Amino acid sequence: MNGITILSAAAALPARRMTNDDMAAIVDTSDEWISTRTGIRQRYFCAGEETVWQLAARAARRALDEAGIDPARLAACVVATMSPAYATPSTACLVQRELGLEESILCFDLNAACSGFVFALETVRGLVTDEKPYALVIGAEALSHITDFSDRSTCVLFGDGAGAVVVAKSGAPFACVHGARGNSEALVCPAFGSEKQYLGMDGRAVFRFAVDILPRCIGGVLDKSGLAMEDIDYFVCHQANRRILDHVVKSMKADPAKFYMNLARYGNTSAASIPLALADMHTEGLLRPGMRLVCAGFGGGFTWGGVLVCWREKGEHLCD
Ligand code: ACO
Repeated sequence: MNGITILSAAAALPARRMTNDDMAAIVDTSDEWISTRTGIRQRYFCAGEETVWQLAARAARRALDEAGIDPARLAACVVATMSPAYATPSTACLVQRELGLEESILCFDLNAACSGFVFALETVRGLVTDEKPYALVIGAEALSHITDFSDRSTCVLFGDGAGAVVVAKSGAPFACVHGARGNSEALVCPAFGSEKQYLGMDGRAVFRFAVDILPRCIGGVLDKSGLAMEDIDYFVCHQANRRILDHVVKSMKADPAKFYMNLARYGNTSAASIPLALADMHTEGLLRPGMRLVCAGFGGGFTWGGVLVCWREKGEHLCD
């Protein structure tokens, strides 16, 4: 199966940083409770006029600059989000406006909760062509706008941010798995016409779902690609909770060093968490051309998705 490679990754975060102690000033909680149950130490929230599309546009601009490609050769600009500022225009159209992208680029939002970024990667693989071989894929959330700050069981978990990647059509190996289960109870946020537009969650049900589906999702990608765990350089999973990822590493008898985690810094940023992880891995110098990555997401719906994708191609020239 022809694939895509990731050429660049960049992040954008809101200005307001909130430590666990800052959260303890809002609800009855503590740094000790939050960090031992989740691994989260701090998160960022949009403040004042900051919007999700501004974050998305900032991350996208950085990713495009770094990739050094001609934006006219983008086939698509897809924003994975479940917390857009508007039902219409889409976040992607606002990014298009901010970046001055051409009219011919397919711009749309995609909502698959925390699986959104992986679904978007799979989607753009089918959109890139020889003529327009690139796509901009963004995960962006302002979850603080749909968080109930009187509910300590959810408000300490989430954060805002955006991550963006530029992908290129490529002959590199690609494999994907995905699914959805029609669950309308465990993770719910009413949309329009609702007085209380807040995220509600059955934490234990989500935990059980996550530790069951992630190993199967990763295993499915490996089966489809004919690769083994040892052939993968990094597993970049949705950053919901350290305990979920620790559980998965243990049950798969995997090398924990291959499971990148940065949720201590950002909390759970839903569709933004995987591209934020890729951006941090890139900044930390962990990624080298040709590296094989498995990105795996799971979330509300319940949805899940995994992709095998390469970080650049060996020998590929880029304008850094
Ligand atoms: N601070 C202090 N105490 C708290 C807090 C808090 N922030 N939140 C809940 N508690 C209390 C509860 O009130 C309860 O007290 P009680 O025993 O007196 O009634 C106690 O802690 C235990 O509550 P539980 O909800 O049973 O806590 P649990 O051990 O299950 O941990 C958690 C909660 C961390 C959410 C866990 O269920 C979990 O990891 N779930 C996975 C869900 C997740 O990560 N979701 C992320 C979003 S979904 C996604 O990204 C796909």
